[in-house]
Amino acid sequence: MTRKQIPSTGLLRDYASQNPGTLLIGKHILHYEEVASTQDIAGKLARQGAEEGTVVIAEKQTGGRGRQGRSWISPDGGLQLSIILRPNLEPARVIPLPLVAGVAVARAIKKVTTLQPKLKWPNDIIIARKKVGGILTETSTRKGKIDHTVVGIGLNVNTARSLFPEAIRETATSLAEESGRNIAPLELLQCLFGEFEVLYIEFLAGGFDKIREQWKAMSNTIGSQVKVDSGGAEIAGEALDIDSEGFLLLRRGNGNVERVISGDVSPPTTRL
Ligand code: BTN
Repeated sequence: MTRKQIPSTGLLRDYASQNPGTLLIGKHILHYEEVASTQDIAGKLARQGAEEGTVVIAEKQTGGRGRQGRSWISPDGGLQLSIILRPNLEPARVIPLPLVAGVAVARAIKKVTTLQPKLKWPNDIIIARKKVGGILTETSTRKGKIDHTVVGIGLNVNTARSLFPEAIRETATSLAEESGRNIAPLELLQCLFGEFEVLYIEFLAGGFDKIREQWKAMSNTIGSQVKVDSGGAEIAGEALDIDSEGFLLLRRGNGNVERVISGDVSPPTTRL
């Protein structure tokens, strides 16, 4: 692992020493050229006492991690970052945090581009039915209290479609591919920090309720017939809503409503 002083791409040149315009998120930025996973670096820093809001960014990840034990491939042009948070909440109350991060990412994309991202439960960022970004949240508790949470965000910003591995070329996309122009990564990053900071503070103070409405307004899941693969078992039904913890409420064919805690939603088939 190398800590790079001046990034070769210029992506974050001087940014780490500038004030990103936020009070908390990005107050300290650690920038690496290449790491296995920014989640691991951020987790280690958090255990060593790093301040809330510290961000770890890498130009490249060799072992990027995704949800459900999958890997996260980040070809050139991607943004890979992990944010250390120390929410003073009961562990159960932090569950919707990945959805809060999804709303922040979508809002930042809307502000910086003309694109209209959608959110696929639980927290995929979708444009034109393809995945442009994902979020992985890892929480560590001590004596029943949250010690830290690391919110990892992977976003395909200026990635050329040809750089995606064949297996995901039809299902992944980037902001540049969808908007037909290159996106200024620093503007996007700054905007993302600002959006996330506002939402995170709102979430700490008032919970998930208001943010939940924003999530729903950008969702491509609610109101659709979906299939959810939760750990091997596939269930189908109408995605009715998300609840105050961010769990998916699914109406099965027999009319029963199930609360789905985690899983992978197949792209909505029918918009009801
Ligand atoms: C997913 O959709 O499965 C979540 C992907 C999360 C990827 C990001 S990239 C930055 C951070 N470091 C990682 O290893 N993973 C997250």
